[in-house]
Amino acid sequence: MSDLHGQKGCKVVLLGDSGVGKTCIISRYISGTFDSNSASTNGASYASKNITYEKLGGKSLLLDIWDTAGQEKYKALTKFFYKDAAVAILVYDITLRQSFDNIKDYWYEQIKENGDKNIVLGIAGNKCDLYEEEAVPEAEAREFAASVGAIFSLTSAQNNTGINELFADAGNKYLDPNFQQKVQGEKEEKEEGRQKITIEKSDEKKERKKKSFC
Ligand code: GTP
Repeated sequence: MSDLHGQKGCKVVLLGDSGVGKTCIISRYISGTFDSNSASTNGASYASKNITYEKLGGKSLLLDIWDTAGQEKYKALTKFFYKDAAVAILVYDITLRQSFDNIKDYWYEQIKENGDKNIVLGIAGNKCDLYEEEAVPEAEAREFAASVGAIFSLTSAQNNTGINELFADAGNKYLDPNFQQKVQGEKEEKEEGRQKITIEKSDEKKERKKKSFC
């Protein structure tokens, strides 16, 4: 968790090809607006929103949402934004087959390689208002999402479909006590492992010193 504005925040990053609608999904979620002439993102931008989970006894979570640029020229830079993210939402355009293939073959692989091992994954099939031009069957996308343990949502930033659910489901999974316990347990194990190595190293040093005196 990052500690921003004096409140614990959960870093969420949106990834996917240029033009799939990442900026529009965030604008719709944060400010309830849609821009049909949304300009391509340069680098990355940031916005935050607090959500409350009634089901979890009114627990609230500050989502720090990062919008990244999908353009090829920004790919190296984008890595910095998902390295320490707690949630990654991979967005494709349901009318563009290539944007879905890139989720599977590029964006997901990038997360696997560079992201946190316990990152919460979401997959969003955006522009579902254009269902008549659908190029990626929903069942296929759901199957892929299930195979990688990701939550799935069909979204439309234009019609405000599926967006609140997408962020709510991601935050819910992140806050899930079993999930938090697993993450905490692994963190502690890692920390113990690190301490053990440090102790062993300092013992080795002492041993070497002793021998050099003999
Ligand atoms: P980069 O910043 O280049 O990575 O693109 P992006 O993924 O942020 O795309 P952006 O949100 O800028 O949207 C690209 C285009 O798709 C814009 O013309 C949007 O108006 C349009 N768009 C976004 N979401 C939807 C949607 O749900 N339905 C439809 N029909 N158009 C959308």
